[in-house]
Amino acid sequence: MIALLVAAAALAASRPDIDAELRRGEAIAVARCGRCHAVGLDGVSLRQAAPPFRELGRVYPVADLIEALAQGATPTHADMPPFTLPLAEARALSAYVRSIQTR
Ligand code: HEC
Repeated sequence: MIALLVAAAALAASRPDIDAELRRGEAIAVARCGRCHAVGLDGVSLRQAAPPFRELGRVYPVADLIEALAQGATPTHADMPPFTLPLAEARALSAYVRSIQTR
């Protein structure tokens, strides 16, 4: 896993477009999800019931996130208003969430 992260980081460093996409995804996560979820590599969620994004893979198929977001399919969020993201934003956010997964 650490080797994978290092490889991903090296890839991102050598591919400015990938780096930019992850930064964009991070910004979207902070703006759209950060008032409830912890969206970084550490920290706790402001809404206690909301899983930290870095642990989402434990409870949710993160690969499905992009479709869910782009199609406006709200997860089982108890008190989260439904929303739809444009496909490019859904891609960036999904790529960012995948990039921070811990086990
Ligand atoms: C108003 C608070 C709030 C916001 C904003 C919010 N969430 Fe959540 N989210 C929750 C809560 C609470 C849960 C866990 C409990 C539940 O399922 O209701 C959750 C759970 C999830 C899950 C796990 C699957 C599931 O349905 O339980 C995913 C994926 C998720 N959120 C994605 C997002 C994304 C992506 C955003 C931003 C685009 C976001 N959330 C914004 C409160 C929020």
